[in-house]
Amino acid sequence: MPMIGRLNHVAIAVPDIAAAAKVYEETLGAKVSEQVPQPDHGVTTVFVELPNTKIELLEPLGEDSPIAAFLERNKTGGMHHVCYEVEDIIAARDHLVANGGRVLGSGEPKIGAHGKPVLFLHPKDFCGTLVELEQA
Ligand code: CO
Repeated sequence: MPMIGRLNHVAIAVPDIAAAAKVYEETLGAKVSEQVPQPDHGVTTVFVELPNTKIELLEPLGEDSPIAAFLERNKTGGMHHVCYEVEDIIAARDHLVANGGRVLGSGEPKIGAHGKPVLFLHPKDFCGTLVELEQA
């Protein structure tokens, strides 16, 4: 039984979200949202809507942004995480943990940037990529 579903978004951390939004809007001709500050998550987000998925642009917000260290290592920005949809986030978490996957933080879902429960998974367990699960 497949557990992960659609690719909900790919997140790209950027040092300057206005410049990044402009690249997507003008150079690539994409539909781009307004900037939304998300103080609970330490980021400002812009969503780029594509026909089959979204790109989430992330800029650090505040003192303890979870993407600050990533941008220290990747000064011009870079791919930060991929987000897969799951039907039942608790069932997905329990399946992962039973199969050796590590969930970051407390292990309990938080409400993510789209108002839905999310979890982040340890990149070392998933081919070097930070994975977000979002309950669809
Ligand atoms: Co995300």
